[in-house]
Amino acid sequence: MPAPSSMHGKAALITGAAAGLGRATALTLARAGADVCLVDINAGALEKTAQECRDIGVHALAYATDLSSADNCRAAVTAALESCGRLDALCNIAAVFIPCHSAEMNDIQWEKTLAVNLSAPFYLIQAALPQLLANKGAVVNVTSCAAHMGQAYLAGYTASKAALTHLTKSLAMEYMHQGIRFNCVAPGGMMTELAQGFRNLRNPDPELLKRYSPLRGLVEIEHVAEMVAFLATDAAAGYHGAVINIDNGITAG
Ligand SMILES: NC(=O)c1ccc[n+]([C@@H]2O[C@H](COP(=O)([O-])OP(=O)(O)OC[C@H]3O[C@@H](n4cnc5c(N)ncnc54)[C@H](O)[C@@H]3O)[C@@H](O)[C@H]2O)c1
Repeated sequence: MPAPSSMHGKAALITGAAAGLGRATALTLARAGADVCLVDINAGALEKTAQECRDIGVHALAYATDLSSADNCRAAVTAALESCGRLDALCNIAAVFIPCHSAEMNDIQWEKTLAVNLSAPFYLIQAALPQLLANKGAVVNVTSCAAHMGQAYLAGYTASKAALTHLTKSLAMEYMHQGIRFNCVAPGGMMTELAQGFRNLRNPDPELLKRYSPLRGLVEIEHVAEMVAFLATDAAAGYHGAVINIDNGITAG
């Protein structure tokens, strides 16, 4: 958990903040004193998170947009800067998750998966770079244990998360000599709306699902949020190009 007031005087943009891990991360950063710009496609739930942050005592902007467009990503960063006056951390947490038989995945599903999970973090980083470089800020990209193992019925999702991992590491290399930091957090299964995507999967082979089911159970959302928020703070100065697995051992073997 970041120390209270460790983000005092700083501002963070958090995507996916309407629900699940994004919401928990927004609240954790707000408790650490950060002003927050919250971005999500779900306007109603996003405003609720923003109000929860304001109740903690920080400035919070709810910026509802669809991150599958590059222009919308750039506009979100502009809005964050206008509202908060600065940007010190970018937490890319929004994602889409469409379990399906690969032969049946349509173009829209495939393109949406890559647009939100991979392209949006890139466009947001690109737009935020001048501020993050000037402030020696931090980018935290949320990937998944799915970035490190093949998972049946999740070809698009696993490919997007593996690519996001390498995007993070490549940026860590490219900006090695500046103070900005790039890291990933790779969670295992958490009890959020996203995981309910499996409900729509028709006739899966249970043997294949078992291969990536957690033997130790799900990961607590709060524990992952604390790691994402920690990596956004100066206390994580030694972390650069890291991938932190929080998956209850799924990727252990
Ligand atoms: N829940 C899990 O089991 C699990 C496991 C591993 C990794 N993750 C990762 O954790 C992160 C958070 O997921 P979560 O479990 O909190 O899911 P969630 O569904 O609760 O939250 C995802 C958020 O992203 C938003 N979003 C989706 N499409 C968007 C778009 N086009 N534009 C803007 N916002 C959009 C949704 O509205 C939602 O609020 C994701 O990156 C996910 O891949 C989740």
